[in-house]
Amino acid sequence: MVRGIKKGAALAINQAAIANAPESFEKMQRVGPKVCLTTANEPGFLGFHAFLQTGAHPLGGRFGAAKLINADSMEAVMESPLNLRLDPLNLWQYTVWEDAEAHERMHYEQYERIFELCAGCLDMVVDGPWEPVYRILEEDMPRLMGMTDVPRIMGQAMAQQQQPPKIRLAMKRLVALGEHYVKEGGEQAFTDGVVRTLEKLKENAPGMIGWMLLEKQGESALSTFQLAPPAFWECLETLGANPPESRRTNYGEFGKDYNTPPIPIGGPKQYLVHTEWESPDTLLFGLTLTGVNPELRRIHDEGVMAHLARLPPYYRIFAPAMEDMIFFH
Ligand SMILES: [Fe+2]
Repeated sequence: MVRGIKKGAALAINQAAIANAPESFEKMQRVGPKVCLTTANEPGFLGFHAFLQTGAHPLGGRFGAAKLINADSMEAVMESPLNLRLDPLNLWQYTVWEDAEAHERMHYEQYERIFELCAGCLDMVVDGPWEPVYRILEEDMPRLMGMTDVPRIMGQAMAQQQQPPKIRLAMKRLVALGEHYVKEGGEQAFTDGVVRTLEKLKENAPGMIGWMLLEKQGESALSTFQLAPPAFWECLETLGANPPESRRTNYGEFGKDYNTPPIPIGGPKQYLVHTEWESPDTLLFGLTLTGVNPELRRIHDEGVMAHLARLPPYYRIFAPAMEDMIFFH
């Protein structure tokens, strides 16, 4: 059985852009825990992270107006997401599952509760929610820890004569998430190139905590209430107390017509490269090594860039907003 962030697990990313206002955060705090409790009804549910976008990587000037952190400082973001100046604000919520079917099944079985909770939040949404589902193709992600856990975890590793893990502090790190579209036929070479690049970065780049490579499998329809009309309109005729009776989407019904994310991927295959960093500076300079370090540039050019369907890869930066700290490793 797959547990936590491990090769083969499914990872759904619920993507919404929300109004950057105190009411949005108040709602997130009120509704978020109820969604988590409901999700935990599904035995195939392994854990979650919610991330708020802080900015984007300027990529040596290609996206020259982009800033990693649109706030006074990283500390200001950790203190309160209200200090972020992006509006709307991207809220991307990861949930991890034994397989893609477990995610679809949870949304089908918990449909009425989730409908009520989601409907209560729609007035803060500017775009979305959309929910692509990925498979963790490869990963090297240490477990989450707090400062007090560090000596114990390091001591255990040394006692077992293992290499000590990188320190991955709960709620205190940044994610760089790069969208990569790959030309047909280049998928295997791209995967190998990504792994070579990330292994080199993890070994050598200061502050690089861990990484995973995600391959898009499709998108969920029911989870984002993309119901076949007229049920779609019925969603909008209530504040949440009266979910549409129909759970049919334009792709049919879970369990009868499909068991995996039904919306096809289309176009060139999409992969996400998820990397975690201890600070804005280590993230900025670490990712930039693929351009300014001759050896890494060659590995990345030949193994990754040469197989892309769309150049360059685009890197959004996120900070954790909420996370499951126990099972997520
Ligand atoms: Fe979901």
